Amino acid sequence: MSGMNNEPIALADALASFDALWSPRILTRVNDYDVRVAKVRGEHLWHVHDDTDEFFLVLDGELRIALREAEGERTVVLPRGSAFTVPRGTEHKPSAPSGASILLFEPAGTSTVGDRHDEVPGHVDVTTGHALR
Ligand code: NI
Repeated sequence: MSGMNNEPIALADALASFDALWSPRILTRVNDYDVRVAKVRGEHLWHVHDDTDEFFLVLDGELRIALREAEGERTVVLPRGSAFTVPRGTEHKPSAPSGASILLFEPAGTSTVGDRHDEVPGHVDVTTGHALR
C-alpha cells in the first residue's frame, strides 16, 4: 500500500520518527487491520467503538485504560510489555500520567475517538492513523 514498502521496520526507528501525542502512525497493514504505534501522555477521552475490539500492547512506559462495564467502572493498568483488548461496545478512556509508547491493532479506518465520544480535547488527534514517513 502507499507509503509502505516490504522492508523490515524497527519499532525504535518508527517511534523516533514523530513526536505528536495521541496521534497514531500506521506501521503496517495485516489484511484489513492496521498495526499502529502511538506516543501518549496525559488523558485521552471517553469513547466507544461500536463494531470493533481494540488491541493495545505497551511498548514503553505505563498505560491505563478506564473502562465502563456492566458491573461498573474500573481501570486496568498496563506496564511495559502488557497487552489488553478493549471489547467492542465498551466505553474506554486511555491515559498515561507519565507517558507511554503503545502499539494498537484494529481494523483500518478505525477512528481514534470511536463512533461516539465526549468532547475532544485540543491535545487529541482525531484520525484513522497517519502514514509513517
Ligand atoms: Ni479506543
